[in-house]
Amino acid sequence: MKAAIVGGAGYAGGELLRLLLSHPEVEVTQVTSERLGGKFIHSVHPHLRRRTDLKFQSRASLLPVDVLFLALPHGETSKEIDRLQSFAPTIIDLSADFRLRDRGQYPTWYGWEHPQPNLLAQFVYALPELHREQIKTSDRLAIGGCLATAAILGLYPLTRAGVLDRSMPIVIEGKTGSSAGGAESGPSSHHPHRSGEMRSFAPTAHRHTAEIIQELCLTAPNGHGPNVAFSATAVEAVRGILVTAHVFLNEDLAEKDLWKIYRAAYANEPFMRIVKESQGIHRYPNPKILSGTNYTDVGFERDPHSRRVVVMSALDNLMKGAAGQAVQALNVRFGWDERTGLDFSGLYPI
Ligand SMILES: NC(=O)c1ccc[n+]([C@@H]2O[C@H](COP(=O)([O-])OP(=O)(O)OC[C@H]3O[C@@H](n4cnc5c(N)ncnc54)[C@H](OP(=O)(O)O)[C@@H]3O)[C@@H](O)[C@H]2O)c1
Repeated sequence: MKAAIVGGAGYAGGELLRLLLSHPEVEVTQVTSERLGGKFIHSVHPHLRRRTDLKFQSRASLLPVDVLFLALPHGETSKEIDRLQSFAPTIIDLSADFRLRDRGQYPTWYGWEHPQPNLLAQFVYALPELHREQIKTSDRLAIGGCLATAAILGLYPLTRAGVLDRSMPIVIEGKTGSSAGGAESGPSSHHPHRSGEMRSFAPTAHRHTAEIIQELCLTAPNGHGPNVAFSATAVEAVRGILVTAHVFLNEDLAEKDLWKIYRAAYANEPFMRIVKESQGIHRYPNPKILSGTNYTDVGFERDPHSRRVVVMSALDNLMKGAAGQAVQALNVRFGWDERTGLDFSGLYPI
């Protein structure tokens, strides 16, 4: 299958390329960059030296392929989607432009009216753990946001099971490394500003809140989703996301009941691991050991003094939070083993 990556000079595009160059079913034939047209891929992705002889080309010179991956900034994809979707029958978009079902959410969370609202219904939110059956038959796949993916995967077993007290909000804190902000430099990525950082950047109104609400509502009994209070913090890391969520149970469930709920959701999922040890330093999910892998590690702890459960979820933002999820969705779509091109662990120690 021939594939092209639009926006391939960015971090998400580079990660896609790393994965697809080792994918036995895919040949990447074109990678676009407007700034770097004519330059070798390794000029910005040095880890791919001798992995490919491809050079960047402009979007204007794209030729038809079987599958087109879009890794443009949000707001850019939807402007160009008419032209872009003429190049391939299958489109996999990593931006936020087709993740939300309700066009009215775009002005609220992104600050712009959606230019192609009629296309929103064609796209599936392509998180395989939630929408595997729809992905199998859809040629329009919208990959979830990195913080949103971590939050949704941590929480959806509980919302689906209907065990949360709906009178209480779900309070979610997401900590993220710097690569989630993309390759473009700015004041917040300047080394003296970013180094040693623990900086709140979206205590309220983070855009991914919309996806978290959408997906948790979809998976909750009767579509009654929870009230979500989400905050995001930048921390000293290049890759990695750790979400910590506080939820309250509507009945007095024991830890073994929570285990059952998480096992029911994830026992057969190839990239989900329940991490909960009684001792040692690796008791809870830790994004550091997930660098470069497609795993999401989810853990939980029941507060012995209240009905609070603390849920922890960790992933690599460029993998399960972007390119890895895209390749997993591709595998689901074309009926290949879901682990194809993704079947490796992280590095330890790192
Ligand atoms: N970074 C993550 O962890 C992550 C996780 C999940 C989802 N995503 C999503 O994936 C998409 C790509 O993210 P990224 O982190 O790879 O971004 P990035 O590193 O900034 O790369 C974006 C690419 O798009 C191209 N581009 C086209 N129009 C542009 C414009 N108007 N302004 C800036 N760049 C433009 C860039 O330039 P050239 O064409 O000139 O090369 C660049 O190669 C985004 O929609 C992002 O939300 C990213």
